[in-house]
Amino acid sequence: MTKSKHIAWHDSIVSKEARQKRNKHKSAVLWFTGLSGSGKSTITVELERKLYQLGIYTYRLDGDNIRHGLNKNLGFTPEDRAENIRRIGEVSKLFIDAGVLTLTAFISPYREDRNLVRALLPDKEFIEVYVKCSLEACEERDPKGLYKKARAGAIAGFTGVDAPYEEPIAPELTIDTEKQSIEEATQQVINYLLENDYLT
Ligand code: PPS
Repeated sequence: MTKSKHIAWHDSIVSKEARQKRNKHKSAVLWFTGLSGSGKSTITVELERKLYQLGIYTYRLDGDNIRHGLNKNLGFTPEDRAENIRRIGEVSKLFIDAGVLTLTAFISPYREDRNLVRALLPDKEFIEVYVKCSLEACEERDPKGLYKKARAGAIAGFTGVDAPYEEPIAPELTIDTEKQSIEEATQQVINYLLENDYLT
């Protein structure tokens, strides 16, 4: 369904810029993408803990959690995944407007869906973080036993098994969780934020 013609935008008096100034840091979305089991959730949990300690206003949106509520009516067809990512892009935009440094952890396997979120946001407010990990290693980890189920035919359309994952072409950051520790990964992201003036 498309937007009605009979609705208008109402600006707030408190701007995003004013909120950022008061928070003493920029707002943006750190968009973590990668296979199931690659380490997206683990990294974002630890990263949020560190940023919180630094006094940064953060919020974490995670695929598993969001699918319990806001997106509980969505499955894993390409269309449902696109809608999942579209909604999270819009939610991220709201959080950014509220002055929050937002961390998202979604497989977001389709390049087109991720690029639509990038296009939704001003330059520098979308930071794509590719959590790189081979399918073999993710399958070996299999923290939720889902790869095993997918291989046994109990889950159809599982990313990496019988549904695609399209690697980012030019992500702002790449974390290789087969080579880097969680500590190194989170420090890499914090360094990026510091070097690019997000934390001031
Ligand atoms: S997506 O592709 O971005 O819409 O997926 P996302 O919202 O991140 O949800 C991924 C988590 O859902 C579980 N799960 C599946 N993943 C992939 N494919 C299929 N078919 C599937 N079914 C359930 C799985 O636990 C994913 O969690 P993570 O944290 O990525 O392991």
